[in-house]
Amino acid sequence: MTPLLEQVYDPNDFRRQGHALVDRLANYLEACPTLPANPLVEPEDLLTTFRTLLAKKAKPEELYELMLRHSLHLHSPAYMGHQVNPPAPLTALSDLLNGIINGSTAIYEMGSTGAVMERLVIEAFAKLLNLSPTTGGFMTNGGTLANLTALLAARAAKWPEGDAWKGGNGHFRPCVLVNEQAHYCIDRAVRIMGWGEEGIINVPSDEAYKMKTEQLDEIISDARNRGLTPLAIIGSAGTTSTGSFDDLVAIADVAERHGIWFHVDGAHGGALHLDPDRQHLVLGMKRADSVIVDFHKTMMTPGLTTGVFFKDGSDAYRTFHQKADYLLSFDSGEEDWANMGRRTFECTKNMMSLRVFSLLSVYGPEVFRDYLSSVNNIAARCAKAVRQFPELELAVLPETNIVCFRYHPKTKGLSLEDVNGLNQMIRAQIIQETDFYIVQTKLRGLVWLRCTFTNPMTSDEHVGKMLQEVKARGEALIDLRNGMPVF
Ligand SMILES: Cc1ncc(COP(=O)(O)O)c(C=O)c1O
Repeated sequence: MTPLLEQVYDPNDFRRQGHALVDRLANYLEACPTLPANPLVEPEDLLTTFRTLLAKKAKPEELYELMLRHSLHLHSPAYMGHQVNPPAPLTALSDLLNGIINGSTAIYEMGSTGAVMERLVIEAFAKLLNLSPTTGGFMTNGGTLANLTALLAARAAKWPEGDAWKGGNGHFRPCVLVNEQAHYCIDRAVRIMGWGEEGIINVPSDEAYKMKTEQLDEIISDARNRGLTPLAIIGSAGTTSTGSFDDLVAIADVAERHGIWFHVDGAHGGALHLDPDRQHLVLGMKRADSVIVDFHKTMMTPGLTTGVFFKDGSDAYRTFHQKADYLLSFDSGEEDWANMGRRTFECTKNMMSLRVFSLLSVYGPEVFRDYLSSVNNIAARCAKAVRQFPELELAVLPETNIVCFRYHPKTKGLSLEDVNGLNQMIRAQIIQETDFYIVQTKLRGLVWLRCTFTNPMTSDEHVGKMLQEVKARGEALIDLRNGMPVF
């Protein structure tokens, strides 16, 4: 052991640095209520700051200080940006513990505690999300990978000629049907599986951005006439831009009638059964062959933390059929739940279950209900407030914690391009000049301002102030435009 390595592994250094970091983080959390949500600086400037730090031998506290100063502040109530929740501090402590034991969950003998917790988290959430008692599954790194993994199982279950794992795609032309508003990772998963552009059929959405399920029968028969085999229908619960929920009961009916796999991308809203006022939106989820849910979007964990649930737990074993003599026998035919690597894309995999398990065991399942109800209710009140402003327009009534709206004074005779340009400029100014962080999206060619309320500490006053800032900037930009073209 060199003196340097002795220092690296010194428990006393760790104790000192760790106590200092926890104190620093607690101070940070105390300060967050008044911090601007996103202290963005130009990329080149930030690069120089970190390059300078790297060039000298920094103390850990210098690095931590810089990190906290320049990071997105998810715990600020002015954070209303993308779908990332402020992690519960307890989950950060779990990550600290995990960082030391570094348990992997591929094989039981390398990560026994993680494997056991993962099984219990899946069992608990199968119940909490009102899924079938036959449900089984595992956890994986994010919704993107989870959707791919579930679709691999769909392929194995519904492949008419046997085994794509051995024979490749051959002349078979499978496809999936999905809401045109779905997250792009579905399209990506299909192309990764080699099904190409024809492998994804975007089903039109209605005025609330929900899949037009009444068109499914015709689309399926049209695809079959073109030589394609519809293999899966994917319901969005909800969509990324607006958080709209497809009619999962209608999709389940169609999928059952045609013998097609039914998958639910519940990355954002798959946990909605926990919100007593909104359970009706996920009624049909119980009938899905597979469901994925991101804990890092709506259940207070750091990313990535995703659950993959299969109605028939044995389907979870269909995804991969490989042999690795040094590690696992994938084709043993046994349902070997304790060796997670047989079912997951990852080999080494972070013990993400600890984050969820700690919340469940310390606070109980009510904590998820409280969180979801709180953030969803903030969005409902925001939508109500938007409607109080004649100059603001709501894209659609929010079903969860996502609200899309825009500044559009009807009396000013603005063209659609003008309104788009105006809202892009408003958002840029909101980020640069105020404490708020909001994002934007495009729906059918129109630019909308988009807020995801993830912080239960965001009050009606914060929301009202943000809307006032939007209105004030819109008015100022229009006044400016009367003198010169600015958008
Ligand atoms: C509906 C939906 N599915 C999948 C994803 C991808 O999830 P992840 O970022 O965890 O890979 C997202 C991300 O926003 C999403 O909104």
